[in-house]
Formats: sequence, structure tokens, C-alpha cells
Amino acid sequence: MGLFSYLKSTILSKIVMAGTGVILVLFVFGHMVGNLQILIGREVFNTYAHFLQSLGELLWLVRIFLFICLILHIITAIRLYFLNKSTKPAKYQVKAYVRSTLSSRTMIYGGIAIFLFLVYHLLHFTAGVADSSIYGHVERYGPLGIFERQDAYYMVIAGFRSVPVSLIYIVGVIFLAMHLNHSVQSMFQTLSIAGPRLTPVIVRFSRIFAFIVATGYILMPLTIMLGIVGGGL
Ligand code: HEM
Repeated sequence: MGLFSYLKSTILSKIVMAGTGVILVLFVFGHMVGNLQILIGREVFNTYAHFLQSLGELLWLVRIFLFICLILHIITAIRLYFLNKSTKPAKYQVKAYVRSTLSSRTMIYGGIAIFLFLVYHLLHFTAGVADSSIYGHVERYGPLGIFERQDAYYMVIAGFRSVPVSLIYIVGVIFLAMHLNHSVQSMFQTLSIAGPRLTPVIVRFSRIFAFIVATGYILMPLTIMLGIVGGGL
């Protein structure tokens, strides 16, 4: 039994999609709440970023775990995409298309867009290679400024002052919100949480959740690009 033998079973594949999806959704929400502290100011945001860095090996364990979830999510999505394509009888195709929503039809393309956005995002803020001028700055803090820590606040503010960069983030987040809207619904379906009364509630919940994620993430590049946040830097 290899690691990927679950791919032979559709139901196991859907469970892996839902399980890794829950973990990724939790990360996306936590990452948004953590980053929104940039709206408060340098001291608060840099303390938060410094705390994450100070976790050391634990941070790396979380990163590796998230990376494995992401890879499993992508591989399983591709497998289910081709399975759907090969098993859907031609005569039902029109009906299936009419019943699906815009976000469900674009799931695989949306997923690819989010992946490309993520690669750009990691090159931008984690590796600092997309724009090296914003990376590697330090902030002096503590009594008489005797301590030094990474100036993550400067990195994000200077990064989002660029209009094209902010627009990339805003478009990436719109794809993410569309993806979340549909995937949260299918996650509940896989877990057999559905019914005539429950399904409309789930649909509304996933729409509200996607809207909150979109608003939270868009607020950062938008307010910084417009000079509302970080103007005095
Ligand atoms: C306005 C939006 C965002 C801001 C300000 C932001 C900020 C950051 C920062 C500062 C880092 C670097 C952490 C470090 O290495 O020290 C980071 C890493 C990361 N971001 Fe974002 N991010 C945003 C949107 C997103 C979105 C939408 C996603 C998911 C699709 C995402 C996923 C990640 C991942 C996976 C990492 C790597 C985690 C790590 O290095 O520990 N980010 N983000």
C-alpha cells in the first residue's frame, strides 16, 4: 500500500480533499486574522511576526504539515477532475452545466490561479526575491532600542504601496473567495452534512465566510495602496 493508493477510491479521495481542505481553510482564516494586525501599527504587527519567527522548529513543522496538505489537496483535485471528466455521460453534460454555479465550474482553474498567486506570494514575502528592496529591514526595539527584529511591517507596507503588486493580491484573493465559497459547500456534502433545511444554511454560511475572507484580505492591500494605512512610514 503506497501513500497514494487512496487515489484509487473516489470516496477516500473526497475525504482527503475535505480533510486537507478543512486544515487549509483554518490556516487561511488564521493567517488573515494575524495579518490584519497590520492595520493597528508597527509595534503590534512586528511583535506578532517576531513571535511566529521565535517558534523556530515548531514553525517549520507547521510549514511542512501545511505543505503536505496542500500537495495532497492538489494531487487529489487533479485525480477527481479527470475522474469526473471520464465518467460523466455526454447526455447529462448540459444538465450538469446548467445546475452548476460559476464557482463550481471554475474550481480547477481557480485552484490553478490560487496556486500561482501563492508561489508569487511566497517569493514576495517569505523568500524576498520578487522585490528585494522591501526585504531584510530591521527594527530596533526595547529600552534604548537595544534589540533588533525583522521589520515585517515595513516589508508589507512598502510591498503594497506598489499598485500592480496590490492588484495581484486583490485578484488572487477574489479567486480564493470564489474557491472557498464552493469548496466549503462540497466539504459539508462529503461529510454527509446536508438536507432540505441544512443545505440552504450551509450555502449561506459558505457565502458569508467567503465574503469575510475576501474583505479581510483585500482590506490590507487596498488601504495601504491608497495611503490610508502606513502613510506615515
Ligand atoms: C493581504 C494579504 C496577505 C498578507 C499581508 C500576507 C502576509 C504574509 C507574510 C508577511 C508572510 C511571511 C511570513 C514569514 O515567512 O515570515 C506570509 C506567508 C505566507 N502566506 Fe500570506 N499574506 C497574505 C495573503 C495570503 C493568502 C491569501 C494566502 C493563501 C492563499 C497566504 C498564504 C501564505 C502562506 C502559505 C505563507 C507561508 C507560511 C510561512 O512562511 O510560515 N497568504 N504571508
